[in-house]
Amino acid sequence: MISTYRLSNGAVLPSLCVGTNRMDRQLLDAVIPAAINAGFRFFDSAQAYGNEGLVGAALRGAMEASGLTRSEVFITTKVDNSKQIGRDMRKELDRSLQQLQMDYVDLWLQHWPYPDYFIDNFRQMADLLASGRVKSIGLANPRIRHLQELYDTTGLLPQVIQIELHPFRQVPELLSFCKMHKIQVAAYSPLCFMIDRLKHSPLLVELGCKYGKSVGQIVLRWHVQRGVLPVFRSEKATRFAENAKIFDFVLDEDDMNRIATLDEDYKFIPESLHCPGY
Ligand SMILES: NC(=O)c1ccc[n+]([C@@H]2O[C@H](COP(=O)([O-])OP(=O)(O)OC[C@H]3O[C@@H](n4cnc5c(N)ncnc54)[C@H](OP(=O)(O)O)[C@@H]3O)[C@@H](O)[C@H]2O)c1
Repeated sequence: MISTYRLSNGAVLPSLCVGTNRMDRQLLDAVIPAAINAGFRFFDSAQAYGNEGLVGAALRGAMEASGLTRSEVFITTKVDNSKQIGRDMRKELDRSLQQLQMDYVDLWLQHWPYPDYFIDNFRQMADLLASGRVKSIGLANPRIRHLQELYDTTGLLPQVIQIELHPFRQVPELLSFCKMHKIQVAAYSPLCFMIDRLKHSPLLVELGCKYGKSVGQIVLRWHVQRGVLPVFRSEKATRFAENAKIFDFVLDEDDMNRIATLDEDYKFIPESLHCPGY
């Protein structure tokens, strides 16, 4: 059973989420039912992935097949950078809901805190909470200075931020800031793309043997024990059952401290590629 997190606004989200970027219809039609069958209820989408419509269709199909109602599944989508320039968040929410074919989105993020636009647009997103068509809002890819500027200007903070986070990038200061301000942190690329350096890390392999788990399970468990919500991606149906089985063991404090030593502030996804001026 996948545990849950309660956000600062009282909304509840599952503690693990399934990513959908670079997934076409065929892949989504395989991955989403496999994830649902393994117990996942939370899916991450974005305007920039160009597949909100396909994600919505695959999710509705899987819900129908498994008898799940809309309130039992959760979906994130994100406003694309290019759309921030239009400064019309209501239009972007309409557009995403129309694509998803849903009445509301559980978590709505700005994909990047786009300079000159993100503060006004975030204020608009906060106003749209009252409509019930969005349950919680947040930012992907912020630094502390973005959150501070947002708070100083508007008095608002996100319910959730989504950032690149894995054993090689642990951003402790940002996590402390979020803890202090009751912002839920979600981790994208939580397995660091399972690059060889992570897959064969002597420490993670040793811990896998110690706990009788795979390296992927050790890393996902580490995230959840830090209070983080991992958003992982897989194209393989078998991974979902594996990645759901992280709630039957606990990494001891010493092992959590040893994983902390792997931090090297390594960023897999270059920031300037996505958001000039960021
Ligand atoms: N907000 C943003 O700017 C942003 C940026 C990037 C990503 N994201 C979101 O985060 C999601 C995930 O990120 P990601 O794909 O970059 O990285 P990731 O989840 O860290 O890595 C994906 C890789 O891990 C492998 N994998 C998954 N479970 C495994 C396991 N138990 N053992 C071994 N390998 C495993 C997958 O291989 P298989 O396919 O073989 O299982 C895949 O190659 C995306 O889908 C997207 O929704 C958000």
